[in-house]
Amino acid sequence: MPTPARKLLIAGNWKMNKNASEGVELTADIVGEVGTETSVGIVLCPPFTALESVGRTIGDSNLQLGAQDMSAESAGAYTGEVSAEMLRNLFCTFVIVGHSERRQLFHEDDALINRKVRAALANNLRPIVCLGETLDHREEGSTEKIIDHQVRTCLAGIEPEQADQLVLAYEPVWAIGTGRTATPEMAQEVHAQIRGLLHEQFGAERAERIRILYGGSMKAENAAELLAQPDVDGGLIGGASLAARTFVPIVRAAIAETG
Ligand code: PGA
Repeated sequence: MPTPARKLLIAGNWKMNKNASEGVELTADIVGEVGTETSVGIVLCPPFTALESVGRTIGDSNLQLGAQDMSAESAGAYTGEVSAEMLRNLFCTFVIVGHSERRQLFHEDDALINRKVRAALANNLRPIVCLGETLDHREEGSTEKIIDHQVRTCLAGIEPEQADQLVLAYEPVWAIGTGRTATPEMAQEVHAQIRGLLHEQFGAERAERIRILYGGSMKAENAAELLAQPDVDGGLIGGASLAARTFVPIVRAAIAETG
């Protein structure tokens, strides 16, 4: 179980699913079941087009709103992009940055992700910075090297005073949407490595407060054992976040782990 300094966080990444009215329906179901929960953090990350209506449905419940991506630029001629300030304006608290689908399908690299992390922090948005190795990396034994590079580059220039706003997510690419989950031991090993790098950059006290989520086929059946690992501080949930009946049990597993 993580230290009491770190409240578990369960974030749903809806990806390109749910229009505004479907999003409202799902949000209302989740709010109805766990909307008053205070022992764990719950974040919903709908597509841009559903942010406003999902935010309204979250209302004054304890859920929080997050976006799935943002521009590194602040304004101007960037057709199709959405700025950090625009997301704040819709009452987003979090933003996912550097998801492996953005890296693989839209060619985002660590340097761009670093610019997005800085832009998010400059606008009072809390970035959920995604990291993770591919199957090739794991099989060739380079997971540790890849994670080291991703953490150092994505967080370059972030000051210790900003560290409290950071959330990291370890998502092995081979586990995303595949039904293959990292074993709790595999997850813990990488989470501990990431924690060590955070110690180096921000000092022990601050590093111990930063949450490191696990993502990749997390579901009700495996959530408890993953969340029981000392450095697993929550989950970034894709497929299982698309229905209250699969998402809420993960939240409940986090509540049980906390209690
Ligand atoms: P998954 O996705 O839970 O469907 O594996 C996780 C993610 O991509 O954040």
